Amino acid sequence: MKESKNAVRRIGVLTSGGDAPGMNAAVRAVVRAAIFRGIEVVGIRRGYNGLINGDIVRLDEKSVAHIINRGGTMLYTARSTEFMTEEGQQKAVNTCKMLGLDGIVAIGGDGTFRGALALSKHGISVVGIPGTIDNDIACTNYCIGFDTAANTAIECIDKLRDTMQSHERCSVVEVMGRSAGHLALYVGLAVGATAVLVPESDQDFDTEVIEKIRNARLNGFTHYMVVVAEGAGSAFQVAERIKEETALEPRVTVLGHIQRGGNPTARDRVTATRMGYRAVDILASGGTNRIVCLRNGTMCDMDIDEALAMQKGIDKEEFTVLEAMTGV
Ligand code: F6P
Repeated sequence: MKESKNAVRRIGVLTSGGDAPGMNAAVRAVVRAAIFRGIEVVGIRRGYNGLINGDIVRLDEKSVAHIINRGGTMLYTARSTEFMTEEGQQKAVNTCKMLGLDGIVAIGGDGTFRGALALSKHGISVVGIPGTIDNDIACTNYCIGFDTAANTAIECIDKLRDTMQSHERCSVVEVMGRSAGHLALYVGLAVGATAVLVPESDQDFDTEVIEKIRNARLNGFTHYMVVVAEGAGSAFQVAERIKEETALEPRVTVLGHIQRGGNPTARDRVTATRMGYRAVDILASGGTNRIVCLRNGTMCDMDIDEALAMQKGIDKEEFTVLEAMTGV
């Protein structure tokens, strides 16, 4: 009988957790890079639930055509509670065995990587690709979806500014990010916000918001843009406090899920493509339990457990610059 123990012949790919623009580009890259190496690809639908239930679709070159430019994920996504149980994980392992999968590429955020770690502890080869608009995965400078989400938020806030300026109003905009402020900080810098609240910093409300609005008024401005990361508190409560302290009547906009949609930007398409290629490269060369990372522009990878133990703080330089730019 022919020896085929170490050859990677068939892999699975799934997207899990909150979707992010560029996930489709990553799926496409995994499929194309695998086929390039003579490896078959099975798409697993609806995240880890699909692995539990055997919800699969065969993928070839054509089935991933015309998706590089599309937001969302053609494989659907889910947050699987069943996969958190030992029983669910065992079912998933059985599906991998049944399908003859030599490895899995899991695209998503930290929940996805905790799932990947569990799978790898059951002996399945797994490689993770960071895809989340929150950009909160510590081992990588960049997560797929962040740039598109930031640009969507910027476009919306620019529109808000037009009407705030005409009415000489204060706008309070809530930006996604779960418990991280990376998106809010970046967007706040890009729209020239009057004030930005992020969860990572112990900001004093009076100094960071009220005083900055007052300064702006003293500098001759009559409209104000306050950006709040969802993890730093509710935009409605922030607006209430501004009203109490300044007698302004702020208008609140919660940008919400609109930030998760839309055609991925060039940065997200290219990063997703590079990461997808790298993930297949790792599996094909016998690697497992790795996360693909982008560090200082270089593609690399790291152990999932090591990566999950890391903490990502707010970008200090961006925060320092923000301090100088706000309130004027
Ligand atoms: O992790 C991505 C994200 O969009 C967060 O920014 C947000 O807090 C969360 O997902 C929203 O989750 P859901 O889509 O389940 O409402």
